[in-house]
Amino acid sequence: MEQKKIKVAVIGVGGISEVHINGYKALPNVELYAFCDINEKTLKLKGERHGVTRLYTDEATMLKELPEIDAVSVCTWNAAHAPCSIMALNAGKHVLCEKPMAMNAQEAQEMMDAAEKNGKLLMIGFVRRFGNDAAVLKDFIDAGDFGEIYYTKANYTRRNGCPGGWFGDKSRSGGGPLIDLGVHVIDLVRYLLGNPQPVSVYGVTYDKLKDRPGIKKPLKSGDHRSETETDKPIFDVEDLASALIRFDNGATLAVEAAFSLNIPKNVGRIELYGTKAGAVIDPELHIYSEQNGYLTNVELADSTALSFDGLFENEISHYIQCFTDGIPCRNPAEDGVALMKILDAVYESARTGHEVVIK
Ligand SMILES: NC(=O)c1ccc[n+]([C@@H]2O[C@H](COP(=O)([O-])OP(=O)(O)OC[C@H]3O[C@@H](n4cnc5c(N)ncnc54)[C@H](O)[C@@H]3O)[C@@H](O)[C@H]2O)c1
Repeated sequence: MEQKKIKVAVIGVGGISEVHINGYKALPNVELYAFCDINEKTLKLKGERHGVTRLYTDEATMLKELPEIDAVSVCTWNAAHAPCSIMALNAGKHVLCEKPMAMNAQEAQEMMDAAEKNGKLLMIGFVRRFGNDAAVLKDFIDAGDFGEIYYTKANYTRRNGCPGGWFGDKSRSGGGPLIDLGVHVIDLVRYLLGNPQPVSVYGVTYDKLKDRPGIKKPLKSGDHRSETETDKPIFDVEDLASALIRFDNGATLAVEAAFSLNIPKNVGRIELYGTKAGAVIDPELHIYSEQNGYLTNVELADSTALSFDGLFENEISHYIQCFTDGIPCRNPAEDGVALMKILDAVYESARTGHEVVIK
C-alpha cells in the first residue's frame, strides 16, 4: 500500500520560496499541495512553474478550503510572518517560518504560544545551522578543542547590498541589515555556543548611506534580491548596525551587519575565541591553537566554505522529519524568540544610547 504523502502549502511565493519548493519536491513522501500569495501575478507564475494548481490569494480561504494540508512554509515578508504562522498553527498545521521569526519579540512569543497551544511544530528558518561549515566547527567544539569560548565576532556586511522591494520598508521588514543579515550570524554564533541566553546588549545603528540611491551599478549578481516590485523604493531602516551582546555564560558577541558600507568588499566572517583555540571562518575554516609549546595554525584538507549545495534541502527535510519521525527540532521557536529579544535590544539601545538589559 502506498504511504500517505505529507501535504505542504507555501505561503508567500517570492524569491526564497523557490528553495523551499525545491526542497519539498526532492522528498518522495511530500506533495507540494498549494500556494498562497497576495500578489496574483507572482502566484500564477509560480503555480505554472511548479505545476501547482491550488492557488490562493488569501491564507484564511486556503486553510478553510483545504483542511487536509499538513504543514506550511511561511516565506512572506517579515510583517506577515506572525499573522500567517499563527493562523496556520491555529488551523492545526506545522509551520516552518523563514527568518527573522517576526518583527519583534512580542510577536515571536505569540507565535510560540500558538504552537504550544495547538501542539504543533514551529521551526524557524535559521538555515546556517545546516551549513557544512557549522557542522565541522561544531564537531571541533563538541570535541573540546576550543576549551571555553568566551569572545566571538560576526560580520555580515555588504558594500552595496540592500535587496530592494520591501527590505528597506520598516513597516514590512521591521528593520534593515540587522534583522535581515545579522539574524543569520547572531543565530549561528549562539547555536555554536550552545544557545546561551542573552543578558544585555549595547548597540548602534546608522542610516548615512541608505540604499545608495545615487549608485548606478546594481547589486552584484548572486546577491539575494526581493521579487516584490516597488514603484517607489522606500528606505526608512538602518543601513549599518553594530552591537556587543553579552550572554549568561559570560561569552560576548561583537556583531556588524550592513546593507551599505564603504568597505573594499562584502564580508561574511565568524570568529570564535576560546581558551584552547580560536577559529575564523572567512569563508574557509582556520583554527589557531597551541601544541607542544608552539603556536599552531590548523587547516582542514577539504574545503569548509559554506556550500549552498543541499543547504536548504537539508533544512526542509529536517523540518518534515521532525513531525514524521519525531526527531528533535534543530531550530525550535524558543531560539527564534531569544534572537528577537536580542534584535529588539539592539534597536532599543541604538535609540536610547544606553545598554539594554534583557530579562
Ligand atoms: N533563509 C535565507 O537565507 C533567506 C534569504 C532571503 C530571504 N529570506 C526571508 O524570506 C522571506 C521572504 O523574502 P523574499 O526575498 O522571498 O521576498 P520576496 O519579496 O521575493 O517575496 C515575498 C512574497 O511574500 C508575499 N506576501 C506578503 N505578504 C503575504 C501574505 N500575507 N500572504 C501571502 N503572501 C504574502 C509577497 O507578495 C511576495 O510575493 C523574508 O522573511 C526574508 O527575510 C530568507
